[in-house]
Amino acid sequence: MKTPLHDAVRDYIEKDMSRFHMPGHKGAGTDEFAALLPWDITEVEGADSLYHAEGPLLALEEQFARLYGTRRTLLCAGGATLCIQTMLALACGTGAAVVMGRNLHRAAINAAALLDLTPVWVYPERDAGAWFTGRYSPAAVAAALDGHPEAKAVYLTSPDYFGVLSDLSAIAEVCRAHGVPLLVDNAHGAHLKFLPERYGKPHPADCGAALCCDSLHKTMPAMTGGALLHICDERYAPDAKRLMSMFGSTSPSYPILLSCERAAAYAGEGAAEGFERVSRAFDRARLLALQKGFALPQGAADPAKLSLGFAARDMNAAEFGAWLRGFSIEPEYIGGAAGVLMATGFNRAEDFTRLETALGALPPSGASAPAPPPPLPRLEQALSVREAAFSTQERCLVENAAGRVAAGEVSPCPPGIPIVMPGERIDGAAVETLRGCGVTEVSVVSRGNF
Ligand SMILES: Cc1ncc(COP(=O)(O)O)c(C=O)c1O
Repeated sequence: MKTPLHDAVRDYIEKDMSRFHMPGHKGAGTDEFAALLPWDITEVEGADSLYHAEGPLLALEEQFARLYGTRRTLLCAGGATLCIQTMLALACGTGAAVVMGRNLHRAAINAAALLDLTPVWVYPERDAGAWFTGRYSPAAVAAALDGHPEAKAVYLTSPDYFGVLSDLSAIAEVCRAHGVPLLVDNAHGAHLKFLPERYGKPHPADCGAALCCDSLHKTMPAMTGGALLHICDERYAPDAKRLMSMFGSTSPSYPILLSCERAAAYAGEGAAEGFERVSRAFDRARLLALQKGFALPQGAADPAKLSLGFAARDMNAAEFGAWLRGFSIEPEYIGGAAGVLMATGFNRAEDFTRLETALGALPPSGASAPAPPPPLPRLEQALSVREAAFSTQERCLVENAAGRVAAGEVSPCPPGIPIVMPGERIDGAAVETLRGCGVTEVSVVSRGNF
């Protein structure tokens, strides 16, 4: 596997140039960062320039495009957050209506505020079990598009935080039939391309998405901030860099970009074998977890993610977290009802042994019938997302919130999906749902803003 960026920066280091350029550390140091600093350069001659790539950065982007089978893939040092902003700007511009899956990350809500987008919500079906958010159905997307022919795109998150996969191929068909692009937040799915063959082709670039983005740092060996924007529909290629540069820093981090190259090398060589080991180890853990009364997501899901509904065995978050940490295991997330563990080929065999030991040592389940998830209220959009997000705001006790307009999203877990979004008027049903989820305060738009 070629490493054009690594080669260019190494050449630069070996030339031992006097660094009369940014960054201020000049590649020198004696502390624990010393080994990294020489690699942290700016756009010096030979090292290319991310937003006008024509040298090693372009070569690396082309390498990623080949790995993922896309028309173009853009490197990004600003996380999937920056890719999401770029994707929505590319496909929708400003002031547009967009069909959006309600289970969306704050990055997309902020992008909607920045671009003044009007979401037309689709809600996931509760088809992954009581403790998980569930999938988007093609029928729900079709109904939203039929009801809103002005919508410029469909924007969905798949896999979701629990690893649950929607049927993107079927949804892409719906989008094609309605003449709109499918945009996918695949922040948690950079590795989906490198899963063992028995899992099919779940990466959105293989399912008909026009644009999708991956947090390379979440599931591949890249540093935090490394991400990819995949362009599968050629017409978005010409403007993509320009729009990404509108939201991103003009000084993208070379260490992050170099680490993306490392991830590309891993994708080409060790990833398939690594995820084979992970999926087998997590399958063993899933079996154990079922025996111990945990709820697991039902249906298509990422095999490299272990999502455990501990509430189904009458355990709470503090107990489950303490139990895992007692075996020297730190999970990705522990929420109100479920925890998430993420693994890659870089996890040691010892990590999975600890996990099996921890699950095996649990006492039998004090099984309680899962309570049905609270019904999600459908709220009036009183202000645009942009108006609400940029308003002056105040905190308000939930019991006093009926009639007020939410300034930010409120997304307790469960249900793991925003109950209230910026600009929505909180009504009595929403107050009840929020209280039922243990929420005590919300941010609301201050009176006198509008
Ligand atoms: C579903 C989803 N989308 C987007 C993001 C943002 O990704 P990043 O942290 O790479 O900017 C996250 C981060 O956790 C996420 O979970």
